[in-house]
Order: sequence, then structure tokens, then C-alpha cells
Amino acid sequence: FKVPQPSNEITLNYTPGSAERVYLENALADEQNVTTEIPMYIGAQRLSTDVKKPIVAPHRHQQVLAYCNYGDGTHATLAIKAALDAKKTWEEMPWEHRASVFLKAAELISTKYRYRLNARTMLGQSKNAYQAEIDSACELIDFLRFNVHYMAEIYAQQPPISAGGVWNRTEQRPLEGFVFALTPFNFTAIAGNLPCACAMMGNVVVWKPADTQIFAADLIMQVLLEAGLPPGVINLIYADGPQVGDVVFKHPDFAGIHFTGSTNVFQEIWKTIGNHIHLYKSYPRIVGETGGKDFILLHPSADWQAASTALLRGAFEYQGQKCSAASRAYIPASLWAAIKNKLLNDLSTIKMGPPTDFSNFINAVIDEKSFDKVASYLSEVANDDEAEIIYGGNCDKSIGYFVEPTVILTQDPYYKTMCEEIFGPVLSIYVYDDEDFEDMLTVIDHTSIYALTGSVFAQDRLAIAQASEKLKNAAGNFYINDKCTGAVVGQQPFGGARKSGTNDKAGAMVNLLRWVSPRTVKETF
Ligand code: SER
Repeated sequence: FKVPQPSNEITLNYTPGSAERVYLENALADEQNVTTEIPMYIGAQRLSTDVKKPIVAPHRHQQVLAYCNYGDGTHATLAIKAALDAKKTWEEMPWEHRASVFLKAAELISTKYRYRLNARTMLGQSKNAYQAEIDSACELIDFLRFNVHYMAEIYAQQPPISAGGVWNRTEQRPLEGFVFALTPFNFTAIAGNLPCACAMMGNVVVWKPADTQIFAADLIMQVLLEAGLPPGVINLIYADGPQVGDVVFKHPDFAGIHFTGSTNVFQEIWKTIGNHIHLYKSYPRIVGETGGKDFILLHPSADWQAASTALLRGAFEYQGQKCSAASRAYIPASLWAAIKNKLLNDLSTIKMGPPTDFSNFINAVIDEKSFDKVASYLSEVANDDEAEIIYGGNCDKSIGYFVEPTVILTQDPYYKTMCEEIFGPVLSIYVYDDEDFEDMLTVIDHTSIYALTGSVFAQDRLAIAQASEKLKNAAGNFYINDKCTGAVVGQQPFGGARKSGTNDKAGAMVNLLRWVSPRTVKETF
């Protein structure tokens, strides 16, 4: 069986007066006019509970977008049972029928649910229209279509050789048990991808999204069911993480986790799994994409205008809350005056406010915890002699969680904001003497506790070659003369090592291979 050849979903622009702009504005109005009640999806049931948790808009935290039925550990138990009950029928279904479900889901998002899903992402996660479009439309659709393509390739792989009188073959079995998908607030595409990549390969899934992502997750689940996903294959629950973890990680049928989120949570999960390893039937697959402290390095030969634009977009799109966001930059002294002038000028033209006003480039950070963390860094820097805020620095949470795009300049390449993950619209800059480019490579490698993304800007090929070699372990996605965000499915498989994760590239065959357990069969005639 050949599946349709995937190509990347075209990005819509939402220019004023366009039909797509009207559709999106209507969807935004609809999603705000009705306060939806969101159920959990366990087996064939849409479950209510006594706890109706409000889901608020980060840009206006008094605005309740929906109430979700919030559960606890007992719902994890129910979800695991529903998953295991659905397992046999799902894994025995010929793979092309499984593939069809996800291809149809991609089609439904592309043609029927695009505007609603974008609207939910804009309102619930505070993304502007463009950021929502490249995430909950394009990237999610791409994940579904490209993964189906890789899945088909896996099932079509050449069998091992067979000598005379023998027939050798390999069967790609799903994992024995259930998989737990834990998804982050910052990408709706990742919310869809983590459970779907596992389910596609014949696994059954318990899915818990971040509380700040439930609004979009609910609609993805509706789409999957409409696309024909049998009940129980993916079970969507909302509850406190540790309560769910307490059930999931003690279950003998726990077969793996597909995770995107913070490094700390991932490390705690890894330890918990280790502590319970004797309980499980198999060693669980642990796949995680975690933090980042992503860099942009300029060589004196760099095209400084292109680099300046990359700094602005890389650091501040989606308020710096992409795990790939540029949060530190190393700039040669000879280029600094020009870059500073352009960057600060460009920043002065961008607007901050609610995503419902399409002219806003910067929206709110996700929640109060996140706001407080960023604000506390900024107040420390404001009172510190080792660094100065040269742009922005103001925060206001009275209406929504707004943090101005902020640029910090420091004389210390090891200063805390050059090393620690802040996850907000904050860019730290160190200006180096032009002749110290090679020293910068050493500094960056040493300070890359995380190793997710990084960019080098240079026209000098030797400098590019040096950076590429010296920084080969400092970024799982390395960009030459481009910003360090915006990996495209099928083009730049995404993921990092060190404290950034297990580097099982999202949207790639290597990822899907983590969700099968091959059986080798030798038959002698
Ligand atoms: N894939 C996204 C990017 O590259 C991050 O998850 O920006």
C-alpha cells in the first residue's frame, strides 16, 4: 500500500479583507460567545465530574473561555482500563485503516476545523493569528500526514535476508501495554502529535494535556473521533499531574511515555519510572522533548540585517515561549552598533496586546506562574550591576499576563540570563571582541546545558565550518544563516539532546520506531 505523498500544508495569511480572515474572526467570536463545557473522553464516554475548572484567556484572565470537567487519579485508572480494552481490536486492525483515521483528521483540520482550532489556540494559549496558523493548522496537519507516510515506510521495509530453506521476517508490533502522552501548552501541534504518533503504530494511549492547553486539546479529540478513531484508543483526561502519575507509573502495563514539557518534570518522571521498574512487564519507552536555552551566534562576516531580523523573530515570536526560541546572542563588537540600532528600532514598531487584535505581534505569556518567573528575572537584572535592560523590562498582570519584549546586555558571557531557561520574551546579549570568535564557540558549548536549537550567522565559510564542528553537540537543530525557530515537519526533524530531551525527532521515522517492538520470525522449511 502506498499512502498519499505528503507535502507541507500551505500557510494562510489572514490579510484584512480576505475570506480566511472573516472565517477566523467569526470563529473567534463563536468561541468567545459560548462558554463550552469540556468533558473528559474515556472509552466511549464523555465524562463529567463535580469539579468544573475554568479555562481562562491569558490575555484577559477574568475571561472564562470554557469549563472543563476536572478529574483525579481515579480517571487515570478508568482511562488505562478503557485503553487496554480497546487495544486488541485496534492493533489487529490492518494498518492502512489506522492510517486513514489520521489522514482524515488532517483533512478535517485543513478544511473544516482550521479556523475553530486556530481560534482556540489564539484565545487559550495567547497566540497571534500567524503563530496559531503555523501551529494548530500547518504543523499539526503536517505531523499527521508525514507520520502516516513514515508509518507506511516502516511497514514496507525490506525483510532481513533469508538463506536457503529459511524464511526470515520482521513484524512491527505495537508496545505491550498502554502509552502515556503528556503534552505542553506551547504547541497545539505537539498536543496532537504525541498521542497520535503512538496510536498510529497500533498503541493505545492515555493523554493528559497541560491545563493551559485543554481548550485546543478538546477540539483535537473531537476531530479524531469524527475521523473514525475508535473509542478508547486515545483517552483524554484532565487532572493534577502527580495524581495521574501516581496511577500511570505504578501500572504493570505502562509501556512508554511520549512527553514534551519542562526538564524538571521529565527528570522527576524518569526517576519515578526507575523506582517502579520492577513493576512493569517491559522496560518502558521514554521519549521526551524538554527545555532549551537556544543561541544565535554572529561572526564578524555576518549579514547583520538578516541576523537582526532573526533575533527579533527567534526571540520574541510567541513571547519567547517556543522551546526553540532564541534567548541568548553573541555579537561581535564591530556589528553591535548597527544591530542594536535596527533591533531596538524594529522592536519599537511591534505591538503588544490581545491576540483578537490582529495587529498585535506580542500577546500574553501563558499564566501567572510563568509571568511571575519572568518578572522575577527582570527585577533581579534591573538591580544587578552585571547586566542592564536596554529595551523593555516592564510587566503588567492586572488584565492579562503581559511582559514587554525585553533585551538584556551583559558583560559576562556566563551571566545567569545567558545560561538559565526563562521561557519568556527575554533576549540576553553578550558583545565580544571580533578576534574572539573561536573563544565564543567554547563558551557556547560550555553553557549549553540544554542542546535544542542554535544558529550561526556568517558569510565566511571557515567560520561556519568551525561553528558547525565545535557546536555539534550544542544543538539538535542547527541553523546556518537562519533563525533558530520554526522547524518544518518533513524538512527539519526536531529535537535536541543534553538536557533538552532524548532527541527522538518529532515528525520523523525515528520517532515512530520508538512506538513499535519488532518481532523477528525465522521459519525453516
Ligand atoms: N518545532 C518548533 C520550532 O522549531 C518548536 O517546537 O520552533
